[in-house]
Amino acid sequence: MKKTILITWWTGYIWSHWVVAFEEAGYKTVIVDNLCNSSVDTLDGIEKIIWYKPDFYNVDLRDKNTLEEVFKKYDFDWVIHFAGLKAVWESCNKPLDYFDNNIVWSLKLFEVMEDFKVKNIIFSSSATVYDSSNFWKWEWVDEKWITWNTTNPYWTTKFILEQILIDLSKFSWFNVMNLRYFNPIWAHESWFLWEDPEWIPNNLMPFIMKVAKWDLGELKVFWNDYDTIDGTWVRDYIDVVDLIDGHLKAYENISEWFNTYNLGVGKWISVLEMIKKTEDIIWKKINYKIESRRKWDLAEVFCDDSKAKNILWWKAKVSLDESIRNSWKFYNK
Ligand code: NAD
Ligand code: UFG
Repeated sequence: MKKTILITWWTGYIWSHWVVAFEEAGYKTVIVDNLCNSSVDTLDGIEKIIWYKPDFYNVDLRDKNTLEEVFKKYDFDWVIHFAGLKAVWESCNKPLDYFDNNIVWSLKLFEVMEDFKVKNIIFSSSATVYDSSNFWKWEWVDEKWITWNTTNPYWTTKFILEQILIDLSKFSWFNVMNLRYFNPIWAHESWFLWEDPEWIPNNLMPFIMKVAKWDLGELKVFWNDYDTIDGTWVRDYIDVVDLIDGHLKAYENISEWFNTYNLGVGKWISVLEMIKKTEDIIWKKINYKIESRRKWDLAEVFCDDSKAKNILWWKAKVSLDESIRNSWKFYNK
């Protein structure tokens, strides 16, 4: 019999890809989302790839009773929890909403898991938990670099949820795979799913694509006086396809207690280098201007992937050139 996985917060851009990969790998997926940052149209994209729609429930995690009804219908082996809101700037404007959405509602999910004796969980954390002001220059960040010295409420929610899950693994019986993603980019190779927010995007890659397509006038580069290669912030961009593969490997390697893995490439690129690279690959001019810095931005974050490599046998494979080329195919179609 197929193993059944409950996925929370699924129709977002990363997770719709993920559903496809898990269904293709032979698992049954059941999905809950309140559609606050997504639409059921993603189901049509998924159906075009796998030929059927996975089971979907419009559930708000605040509503514990409805969540329990879903747990009664299935014998879940796993929960994949991609806890909610993720815009750093928004979290600075509405910290209480972020604490409520990301922390309080997650506790409801954990309670129901405990009641139904579902003990395996993959948690979607973030490289946001690393504070680059602590680093030596050009240091690859490994899993022990987490710090409580958070610079924004989004980060605080990830930090606190990680701590809660550590305790649940010690004092309840949860088995936790805590995955910290670096900067995910790109779309599904089928061309039915991709990152194309209708509103003005927050993240760098979709913004660059929208400027290249002339949907937006120019990119604001958030300052250029930092001590990096050209003064602009440096990041480690990971293709969604590699990220999904990392989840499959994590799933196959679940063990007791709480385990954390970085999912990133281990290569860095600055914002100006990314603009230049994109221009060279897609042959389009990217207009930009230097603006003041975002107060929460970290200068440089790039991944030490040795733990995932040595234990999960996982390594990112897709090149940044390929990610950019594929991304442009979508935006240009
Ligand atoms: P997304 O905003 O595209 O998707 C989030 C989904 O959660 C949406 O479908 C939204 O409708 C749903 N949602 C939000 N609050 C909900 C609630 N209370 N009840 C039910 N559904 C709710 O985000 P994404 O890029 O797919 O990211 C998913 C996860 O990955 C988040 O936990 C995010 O913090 C983490 N992450 C993302 C990035 C990134 O750059 N995209 C990087 C690191 C970590
Ligand atoms: N940037 C710009 N202009 C923009 C958007 C971004 O210059 O319009 C720069 C930022 O200053 C940063 C880089 O591009 O240096 C990447 O910025 P993103 O907003 O795309 O990504 P962040 O690294 O700030 O944060 C992202 C996600 C978080 C996640 C984190 C993990 O938004 O949810 O990656 O590292 F936690």
